[in-house]
Amino acid sequence: MKPYCNDDLADINTPLLYDYWYVAGLATEFTRELRERTILNRSLVLYRDEEGNPIALQNRCAHRSFPLASSNLEQGGIRCKYHGIKYNHDGEITDVPCQDKCPKSGIKKYPTCEIGPCVWVWMGEEGKADEADIPELPIHDMDKWVHVVGKYNHMAGSYILLHENLCDLSHLPFLHADTFNMPKEYTAAPIEVEQTGNRVTFYRKMKDWALLKPFFHPKLDFTGQNIIYKSGGEYMSPATNKGYGLIIPLDDDGNEKAEVGHYISHYLTPETQGSCHYFWYIARNYQLEDTTYSEAQKQMVQSGFDQDCEAIALLQNMFEKDGHDYREIGIKADKPGVVMRKIIKGLAP
Ligand code: FES
Ligand SMILES: [Fe+2]
Repeated sequence: MKPYCNDDLADINTPLLYDYWYVAGLATEFTRELRERTILNRSLVLYRDEEGNPIALQNRCAHRSFPLASSNLEQGGIRCKYHGIKYNHDGEITDVPCQDKCPKSGIKKYPTCEIGPCVWVWMGEEGKADEADIPELPIHDMDKWVHVVGKYNHMAGSYILLHENLCDLSHLPFLHADTFNMPKEYTAAPIEVEQTGNRVTFYRKMKDWALLKPFFHPKLDFTGQNIIYKSGGEYMSPATNKGYGLIIPLDDDGNEKAEVGHYISHYLTPETQGSCHYFWYIARNYQLEDTTYSEAQKQMVQSGFDQDCEAIALLQNMFEKDGHDYREIGIKADKPGVVMRKIIKGLAP
């Protein structure tokens, strides 16, 4: 790998990117209860209207800045708890109790789009929101895959640190030594990295089913068959990273048969410059009915992600408090993360 200058790479100080779709919350978090969430330094109120549509409005009464999320949701909209001004689901004022005239509110409504377990929000330039730009994931097909949806996670660190963590296969046997239990052979397998436009894919391959069997459902068995195990991920957008572990059986001629495995969808949404929201779900195309396995998988993966969460808070804290002169060194396994950081740096204003 060529030596690189850190100035070429995005870091915790790189300006946030607004013109992208981000996940605002899990679909289950959008209810008839008002919820505050800060996204890209903008405080929002999130809820559902009477028809069940997810709504994201600026969380700030236009009168004297009382938080709408701390107000009351009524039929037709939110009534501010401070002086009773009412807003409809578009953020327009429909009632001012002490006068007849309703002024223009200026409260922003942000476009949302619900897909599977997630609700996306567009925080960018008005009129530029295009749902076709939401990164396509094959696992959106809810009928053919079983989805294990993780809980909401708050990260006390920049989303760049989290993206780098997700692009980094080398930390798995160390930070997650007691959760993911990867075989030591995994560490040594070479990493392939490919950049296509503003996306980066990376993966490792292994062939020994006996080593891999403990990490899969007990009823999956490829003993005696030639397989390729492909483990890796893809940085897709500032909001999206995807991981996967796929077993690809080979026929007698070495042709690849249909894959069996799982994808992990990671959604990263900056809260502020130094913190982010993190949502994840796993989709698998095997043992669809085994709900006990789903629950065990959820617990195991969440405990691994809790370790990432702790590590990222420690990194952010180190960047903020330590005054040593400092320059990052690079190691071979960094490449996917380095390419991702170059891309984000190139997109930043
Ligand atoms: S602050 Fe909301 S009505 Fe006055
Ligand atoms: Fe991790």
